[in-house]
Amino acid sequence: EQIHRFKGLNYLEKSLEKELNIRKVIIVPGNSDEDELILKDIGKATSNYIVDKLEKNSIIGITGGTTMAQVAEEMPVYKKKSDLLVLPARGGLGENVETQANNIAAKLAQKLCGNYKLLHVPDNLSEEAMEALLSVKEIKEVVDIMRNINMLVFGIGRADIMASRRHFSDDVVKHLCENRAVAESFGHYFNTKGKIIWETNTIGISLSDFKNIKTIIGVASGENKAEAIISICRLKEDMTLITDEGAAKKILNIV
Ligand code: G3H
Repeated sequence: EQIHRFKGLNYLEKSLEKELNIRKVIIVPGNSDEDELILKDIGKATSNYIVDKLEKNSIIGITGGTTMAQVAEEMPVYKKKSDLLVLPARGGLGENVETQANNIAAKLAQKLCGNYKLLHVPDNLSEEAMEALLSVKEIKEVVDIMRNINMLVFGIGRADIMASRRHFSDDVVKHLCENRAVAESFGHYFNTKGKIIWETNTIGISLSDFKNIKTIIGVASGENKAEAIISICRLKEDMTLITDEGAAKKILNIV
């Protein structure tokens, strides 16, 4: 039965690669909407994949959120010092400290016995504040390194859920609704076609940076994220998606 189950998942992975038109899909059994423990398996599958793809001088960018927190949690501890560098992919200090990208980046770097840099920049900055912060030496240094990220590991959220989690103003919520934003990733909000509807004003990777990164690993689970996942997969063909069976089956029903 186990073998059949794996064969079934393998088939599901191939179907999803074809339907979403992306390079690789990895599916873990179950649906995290129904069983929270599935998130742990997602964390394990992602950390294994990261280790597999690491190169000697990898510069890894990672975003915030509960899924990414689980990836850092499940990463095995390395004993040998490495030259790896981990950075948060975007500023943004609006969430719980456990799910902030800074915290996750530091934890991941420690597990991998590498180095990390932090970015202490809030969300929703004015243009003037952003310019002023970009002239601070420590921030500029991180922003410059950010342009050299060669592996990005990022979470995918639903636009509506992320907007309420981040306490957006009524005006922004209205804008997202009217323009049918369905997905959020690295501070950008997208519609089902992968078009940007809104972007949080903060410092970090942009969509054009994203498109130039060599190894892109998007991670999201639970059938309620199906539409959000479809949207994000429109951004880049050469990406890997790590998801669960619940989301995978729902996606195949929609596309
Ligand atoms: O930035 C957050 C992600 O887009 C999704 O977060 O993993 O907590 O659902 P999550």
